[in-house]
Amino acid sequence: MLSSLRTGVQGLWRVSARSLQTTSALQHDSLFVHRDTPEDNSSIPFEFSPANQKRIDALLAIYPEGHKRGAMIPLLDLAQRQNGGWLPISAMHKVAEILNLPRMRVYEVATFYTMFIRRPIGKYHVQVCTTTPCWLRGSDAVLKAIVEATGCQVGGNSPCGKFSVSEVECLGACVNAPMVQVNDDYYEDLTVEDTKEIIEKLKKDEKPKPGPRSGRFAAEPLGGLTSLTEEPTGPGYGLQDALKA
Ligand code: FES
Repeated sequence: MLSSLRTGVQGLWRVSARSLQTTSALQHDSLFVHRDTPEDNSSIPFEFSPANQKRIDALLAIYPEGHKRGAMIPLLDLAQRQNGGWLPISAMHKVAEILNLPRMRVYEVATFYTMFIRRPIGKYHVQVCTTTPCWLRGSDAVLKAIVEATGCQVGGNSPCGKFSVSEVECLGACVNAPMVQVNDDYYEDLTVEDTKEIIEKLKKDEKPKPGPRSGRFAAEPLGGLTSLTEEPTGPGYGLQDALKA
């Protein structure tokens, strides 16, 4: 009895000792919990510039009384743009004050959306999509080329302070995979060579031409149209004669 119990326990141990996970656990490169730092703490004042204050007034006018909180994301975006591309906690407090909301409501939004950056970043924020379509089309090689060319690790800043690199989920340009976003611009249909060229231009503060690198205008088929190749029929097409005016 005792020996069979021991054998059973050993068997269980053997089963539980088998590693069920074979890949490393993924960690997100963004910080979602606030930690006071010398450059980001609530004692640093934040005020919107007069130009942004006008934009805020225009934005708030869109929303009816009682629903002004709908302007939270545009306001946080304005704050981030004014602050060099990242969102300090004082700016969140300012937005809460303007919208007359508990600060927690603003923290919830700012930490949910990865478009809000919670750490100082470089002049060029390079966001590399590594979701399945981009991954299948070579985003690993694109990411590696960017890390090597900028000298910054994923989730970090380059030693020169000019670049920040983030790995992000689908940016909605899967038809033009692989792609990266640099600040507000998309660079699509990338090869490793294209990627290196883009980074080299940014190093010289030149603006690379955004859009697809494959010669496509947008997201049309690379080999030419395969459907909708005829002139569209006009109104009334196929209508019985009796129904025609
Ligand atoms: S998967 Fe990369 S843009 Fe959608």
